[in-house]
Amino acid sequence: MGPLSINADNGTTNATLVLNENSWTKMASIIFVDIPAGTGFSYAKTKEAWVSSDSIVADLAHDFVKKFLSGHPKFLKNPLYIGGISYMGLVTPIITMKVYEGNERGEQPTLNIQGYILGSPLTDKFMDFNSRLEYSHRMALISNDIYESAIRHCRGNYVNIDTANPLCAHSLQRYKQCIDKISTNNILEPFCEESSDLPYCQEDAFEAIQIWANTDTAQHALNISQVRD
Ligand SMILES: *[C@@H]1O[C@H](CO)[C@@H](O)[C@H](O)[C@H]1NC(C)=O
Ligand SMILES: *[C@@H]1O[C@H](CO)[C@@H](O)[C@H](O)[C@H]1NC(C)=O
Repeated sequence: MGPLSINADNGTTNATLVLNENSWTKMASIIFVDIPAGTGFSYAKTKEAWVSSDSIVADLAHDFVKKFLSGHPKFLKNPLYIGGISYMGLVTPIITMKVYEGNERGEQPTLNIQGYILGSPLTDKFMDFNSRLEYSHRMALISNDIYESAIRHCRGNYVNIDTANPLCAHSLQRYKQCIDKISTNNILEPFCEESSDLPYCQEDAFEAIQIWANTDTAQHALNISQVRD
């Protein structure tokens, strides 16, 4: 979603940065926050400041948004969305609620909060994983037969396989065979094992970014503090 993408076609150690034609920054102002301390290039200066929890993150993120927008008032009128991926699916709604509550208490400045955006969020561990069977069926990754057999035999639980229930175990085995080679994060992509020779693996891009972000030149250009740890 950012203005640059990484191309790892020549190997993850020879990756190059390319302009992203579809950058969200073409129509929105986005700020990415490495939170809690320790994420990305962020760090803490005291032992206490390393301590974290979901509620601490929610409070700190709320403080950050308020301070940032107070310091950059030209963004105050823009519709504001709080975004998060993966585990932040649990925390982003809390941050957003805190922003609404701050407005209701009359805290200044008033933030033009409109909602939140989640990508591949964790919301409820059991439901998130359990709903993958139905999702796979809706996306035509598994047949009606496999889907109906799992429904019939597994009593609504497709996560914790009951070995004492061989009919369910068998249905889920057939289901797993169908989705084995597909990326869990994006069904349009293949599941990548390490050192696979597939033409495109999201994991390669992650690895390339990690290598790039740990080079001295990138860290110098990004003005990254070297006092971490
Ligand atoms: C890959 O390497 C070739 C040969 O050095 C170069 O011409 C090409 O631009 C590189 N591609 C990318 C995406 O970096
Ligand atoms: C990176 O590019 C160099 C020069 O083209 C090549 O010798 C090297 O094998 C490449 N590295 C990887 C990991 O592909």
